[in-house]
Amino acid sequence: MSNLQAPRGTHDIFGPDAIKYQYIHDIFRQTCEQYSFSFISTPIFESLQVFDRTLGEVSDIVSKEMYVFEDRGGDRMSLRPEGTAGVVRAFLSNSLQRETPLKFWYSGPMFRYERPQKGRYRQFHQVGVEALGIDNPLADAEVISLGFEIFRKLKLTEKIKLEINSLGSATDRQKYRQILVDYYNKFQSQLSEDSRKRLLLNPMRILDSKDPQDIKINIEAPKLADHLSEDSRKKFELVQDLLKAKNYAFTINPSLVRGLDYYNDLVFEFKTDTLGAQDAVLSGGRYDGLVETMGGQATPGVGFAAGVERLMLMLDQYPEVTRPVVFVALGVDAEKLAFQTGEALRMSGVTVEHAYSGNIGKRMKRATKLNAKWVVIFGDEEVKNKTATIKNFDTGNQENVSLSDLLAKIS
Ligand code: HAM
Repeated sequence: MSNLQAPRGTHDIFGPDAIKYQYIHDIFRQTCEQYSFSFISTPIFESLQVFDRTLGEVSDIVSKEMYVFEDRGGDRMSLRPEGTAGVVRAFLSNSLQRETPLKFWYSGPMFRYERPQKGRYRQFHQVGVEALGIDNPLADAEVISLGFEIFRKLKLTEKIKLEINSLGSATDRQKYRQILVDYYNKFQSQLSEDSRKRLLLNPMRILDSKDPQDIKINIEAPKLADHLSEDSRKKFELVQDLLKAKNYAFTINPSLVRGLDYYNDLVFEFKTDTLGAQDAVLSGGRYDGLVETMGGQATPGVGFAAGVERLMLMLDQYPEVTRPVVFVALGVDAEKLAFQTGEALRMSGVTVEHAYSGNIGKRMKRATKLNAKWVVIFGDEEVKNKTATIKNFDTGNQENVSLSDLLAKIS
């Protein structure tokens, strides 16, 4: 068992990464609370059927990226590749339909068998929100605004750009699909092999192909925007008006189609050019048909998820860890005193660490490594006199204080 490694595409999070990871979660949680979302946690594995039809059988996720397994009882399960389908499953299993509108936020690991590269992993973490039961573009604008707020608080606004698009209603899309197929059929022989496959299965995905030849063909491709129903067009305009009212910058990207099947009308992505090929940081949209697809009464939904690792890669300003007060106790009696005093300080909200072993030099080095603000030294003298020798690590000043003054001195 010597060369044990984390599985390919996964990683351990510790040290400075752990600080970023927690900071992002803290900001996300606070902001979701301001927007009145409440927390939900759903299992990291579900019956396969929660995902396969809902995300789209021909989507990349379902067709080649899911971690599917049979459990010991013979049931087909999947590790969750995303959070939305699980939240909707929970909404249905817990009969929450009468309690709408409901606004949930979640966070946790997701699993996709993708080719690992910078910003793309097989186990990654998402933070996300889902608003269920609100058929109003106000909710669309609100989730986008929540996204902007997260980036503002993380000081990442400069690094992101919002793109939006409307996919229209399911009927709009069906009509448009045929129009697209007719168009691409004329270029069959010039399309990339992937796109030729997509032509049969999911022609809209050709629109976001990265193949140079496909890109040329896409320039003249019919635009869904020109084939939206009146209702969808109005909804899309309203979302845009709301975003403009808040002075949020965005561009309409007609080829933004998203890789999951459940969307209709608004889709959006906050993109960055700081992560190479993996440019989507926070993405989502409306999914008014999903609850019905999963067997419930028609209930509109809108939400997004952000990739925590991608946010971590972008983050360059985050709070430092609290500098501790480090106890250096020499001798058993001194350790007893350090333990008691340390616990009392912790109960008053002070961050305390002990330099557990070694000679005084080694323990002071440990205090330096921990970026100590103060060091509290206990030796025989201090034990006898009920005092502490304290050293301010910024000024280097050292003094002897009575134990009753200790808290006041270092606060
Ligand atoms: P998604 O676009 O598939 O949407 O994923 C959301 C975010 O997760 C992406 O923008 C990206 O930051 C991150 N992400 C995706 N795949 C990976 C990966 N392999 N490694 C690292 N990060 C990744 C969804 O999952 C939808 N459920 C979002 C949603 C919620 N739509 C409506 N409600």
